[in-house]
Amino acid sequence: MSIAAKRLPILGLSIVATATFALVPAYPDEVPSRKDSRHSYVGAKKCMVCHKKELMGNQYATWTRGPHYKAYRTLQSDASIAIAEERGLAVAPSEAPECLSCHATLQSVAPERMAYPVELQSGVECESCHGPGKDYRKKKIMSDIKDARKNGLWNAGEDEGICIACHNPRSPTFDPERYVLPDGSTAGFAFMEAKEKISHPIPTEVRGKYLELEKIEKEKARAAARAN
Ligand code: HEC
Ligand code: HEC
Ligand code: HEC
Ligand code: HEC
Repeated sequence: MSIAAKRLPILGLSIVATATFALVPAYPDEVPSRKDSRHSYVGAKKCMVCHKKELMGNQYATWTRGPHYKAYRTLQSDASIAIAEERGLAVAPSEAPECLSCHATLQSVAPERMAYPVELQSGVECESCHGPGKDYRKKKIMSDIKDARKNGLWNAGEDEGICIACHNPRSPTFDPERYVLPDGSTAGFAFMEAKEKISHPIPTEVRGKYLELEKIEKEKARAAARAN
């Protein structure tokens, strides 16, 4: 059974039951977890403030080296222009909602839900996977996972529906054999393997202890400054 088909009862999507193609949401905003519209988006630069710290594991740097950060620029490539021509798009792929819906976070967010300006250029940002961050991004809330979830942090590690909103046959380059699974079978998207490819962990020894360790680090820095 395909991943999309397996997800079906969980997502509870209304579908036209012909092709697998019909089983997936048309746009990222149709994933149920994304319909919760109480929270606003802030953009990756706001997450960067804390998540570029070495102690934290610098998730920001990992993201800028990965596929999602460059997703918008991909739409300016020759390959994208060829796809757009084939499909008879009226505008350049980097301006076409048909492409931007999955290649840039901003495209699928209503303007009134943007707390700060976010650019199309920043591609698929943190909040496309972690949820709109205006209410969970405070240090104290972020450090308490229950509190963070209450304030809009999605469970990206467990909810493959978040990925499948974009990684599905509506993508013109979707290759049903892109992933080779441990048992030798193939899939267009495989949650475990795909997560591994974009992995950006908090170091194990820091996880759950960031605030505490940051305090110690700051005290050490102050002591070193006094010693000089
Ligand atoms: C003011 C600092 C700060 C900002 C801004 C911030 N975070 Fe965090 N974040 C933290 C801290 C502190 C933790 C907890 C680290 C620990 O001790 O494990 C954390 C943890 C996380 C976790 C892991 C949650 C878990 O336990 O599974 C995710 C995911 C995350 N942040 C995403 C984001 C995103 C996305 C943004 C931007 C919308 C953001 N953060 C903005 C400080 C921040
Ligand atoms: C908002 C849409 C969107 C979401 C949500 C999304 N992706 Fe992607 N992903 C893309 C796009 C677009 C690309 C292609 C980027 C490029 O090459 O320009 C991509 C590329 C990738 C790639 C590299 C290509 C491949 O399959 O090897 C991996 C790995 C990946 N994504 C993993 C994930 C995982 C894991 C999740 C969920 C936690 C996820 N993505 C969620 C849009 C998305
Ligand atoms: C349903 C979401 C979705 C839509 C709509 C979409 N893409 Fe993508 N795109 C992706 C994902 C996900 C990937 C990663 C590979 C894959 O699984 O298809 C990708 C990868 C690509 C790549 C290949 C990048 C690489 O280096 O391999 C190109 C080129 C591309 N898209 C162009 C376009 C163009 C042009 C459009 C509009 C006509 C478009 N995409 C519409 C999700 C989408
Ligand atoms: C394409 C989806 C995607 C994007 C974009 C993304 N993340 Fe994540 N992130 C994930 C997934 C999935 C996990 C959980 C990994 C796991 O559990 O194996 C994760 C985990 C994390 C964690 C917790 C790591 C841990 O050790 O538990 C932090 C912190 C985090 N992300 C921050 C960010 C920040 C900050 C950005 C933007 C700069 C970002 N992420 C962009 C999908 C994404």
